Amino acid sequence: MTRQILVTAALPYANGPLHIGHLLEHIQTDIWVRYQRLAGNRCTWVWADDAHGTPIMLKAQAEGISPEALIERVKASHEADIADFLLTPDVFHTTHSEENKELAELIYNRLNEAGHIVKRTIKQLYDEQESMFLPDRYVKGECPNCGNADQYGDNCEICSATYDATELKNPISQVSGKAPVMKDSEQYFFALSQFGDMLKKWTTSGTLQTEVANKLKEWLDSGLQDWDISRNAPYFGFEIPNAPGKYFYVWLDAPIGYIAAHKHLGDKNGFDFMDTWKPDSDHEVYHFIGKDIANFHCLFWPAMLENAGFRKPSGVFCHGFLTVDGAKMSKSRGTSITARTWLDHMSPEYLRYYYAAKLSSSVTDLNLNLEDFVTRVNSDLVGKVVNIASRCAGFITKKFDGQLSEQYPTQLQAHYDQMISAQQVISDYYEQREFGKAMREIMLLAEHANTYINDAEPWVKIKQEGEQQTVQDICTVGLNYFRIIMTFLSPVLPELAKKTEDFLNTTLTLEALQQPLVNHGIKAYKPMMMRVEEKQVQAVLDATMAEDAANKAAAGTATSDTSLEPIMDTIDIDDFAKLDFRIAKIVDAQPVEGADKLLQLTLDIGLEQRNVFAGIKSAYEPADLIGRHTVMIANLKPRKMRFGLSEGMVLAAGPGGSELFVLSPDDGATPGMRVK
Ligand code: 2FM
Ligand code: ZN
Repeated sequence: MTRQILVTAALPYANGPLHIGHLLEHIQTDIWVRYQRLAGNRCTWVWADDAHGTPIMLKAQAEGISPEALIERVKASHEADIADFLLTPDVFHTTHSEENKELAELIYNRLNEAGHIVKRTIKQLYDEQESMFLPDRYVKGECPNCGNADQYGDNCEICSATYDATELKNPISQVSGKAPVMKDSEQYFFALSQFGDMLKKWTTSGTLQTEVANKLKEWLDSGLQDWDISRNAPYFGFEIPNAPGKYFYVWLDAPIGYIAAHKHLGDKNGFDFMDTWKPDSDHEVYHFIGKDIANFHCLFWPAMLENAGFRKPSGVFCHGFLTVDGAKMSKSRGTSITARTWLDHMSPEYLRYYYAAKLSSSVTDLNLNLEDFVTRVNSDLVGKVVNIASRCAGFITKKFDGQLSEQYPTQLQAHYDQMISAQQVISDYYEQREFGKAMREIMLLAEHANTYINDAEPWVKIKQEGEQQTVQDICTVGLNYFRIIMTFLSPVLPELAKKTEDFLNTTLTLEALQQPLVNHGIKAYKPMMMRVEEKQVQAVLDATMAEDAANKAAAGTATSDTSLEPIMDTIDIDDFAKLDFRIAKIVDAQPVEGADKLLQLTLDIGLEQRNVFAGIKSAYEPADLIGRHTVMIANLKPRKMRFGLSEGMVLAAGPGGSELFVLSPDDGATPGMRVK
């Protein structure tokens, strides 16, 4: 029976361009969708921009335009990137749509009528100058736990404590720069706490990856809190029915946007989206998302669906984060690469293939190693795959008038059958999102094909009397292998597949592979894929750094960067002499259980080893720090932290997040040397 599959990818926020981090998920989704279509299933991908919320409202304000104008402009840019990265959603809608408003109201009303919405008065920080309640990330102050200044309203970057914005000491609104006041505010909560049992069952029913189910179990075991689904005006979103001045929190209507996009498509194409979304539907629904938004999709969302008379997803597929050369993407390192900058310098298929080669079904992070990227693309795609066609095509065109042999060589039929029998394992890998394993299988086929051509030596035989038929047969076999390989690769490399179809003058389908291509005319070969050059990668990095500099300049921060901290009061030389900076070797780096921002470093300073907790996790993979030399202050009084004793500090520069740079000494400096 043909499977009816509905797929979604997370809805990108309509406040900025797509970048290669987003594309990891988009490419993963597209490959899976294209594979399903190749396998003959009815697979529909519905997608949209996530157009609501405070950041979008404030960005529009900063640009002096309406939020509607901003989201329209961004949507157009997303659509262009989607098309140029060869992504094939059936619809790309927006959450700021009539369909979404209607569905969000319907779902909310049903939840409300069933008694699952509760009103509560809570205290919130209010910016009197801007007349707005402040979301957590729009207020900074001193951490209520460790007292460090300049911490956001949700958690502390220094000690990792989580808290409510109202607990911050000396809070400052990031919108007006003024101290906010505390104000009572009535909010609407979705009674998530009522659905713990249902969610415990659902999250362990095989719908989720084990790692994700285990992570959610921690939340479920500690008891779910009701979820605040309302925000006060001013807010860019949908007003809650019968609650003037209250708006749906963006995360309420964002996933409903999946259904709304589907409805939009159904209205256009004449089908009923509810055939998929009704509780007893036999269609399958899968969400591709990043692991950071698993709680929304695996707790809040199924609880909303179930209690509003909709079906729950068949599966939620979480992926890990992207790192580039082992570190989080960073604008100043040039690795926060937008989709458009990539396209300006390189083929989208290079990235599609590299991601495919490294993707698995797990939630582990994926590293785009730029050196490995160049090597892998050139050696696999150009060296192994396209090479098969380029070695065989010339003979067929020049010597055999573009015709493949009339019959497939009988003695090689078994080998042909063996090649196509790889379809089973490759299909299973695609289905299970084990794309890396699928790519390895396909490359093995390409290696076999190349070995066959090497051994058969058509370039030698062409010069031998009476061997013309043999040469035509060898090239026919080689091009049939190429056809098999390109059919299997078509979900990953749709453009190369299209060129292959044109060149081989046939359509690439799994069914067609059952019969070898013989007694058939092909077209003249044109180069199908260029090698990727290191200088193209460098051009992407340079362009990204230049964009960053230009953005800073446009914001007036290039020459006199107001985001830089002011120079501190002067100290005298005796004060300086008290600071004991040492060269340290990072001999170990580990994440810290329960601390999102910290890494635990073991530092060798020659005389001894030190244990230091450093708030640099957002910028570095622990493994990439091991073995590096850096500078630490060695005579700082040890500080007791929640996770243990911190015996000093390493020196790092930057505003925070992924923009943090651990200092490195020049070569030759060894552990323990005093920095003077
Ligand atoms: O995290 C994000 O980027 C959200 N815009 C994803 C929303 S996915 C869905 F729920 F709409
Ligand atoms: Zn703190």
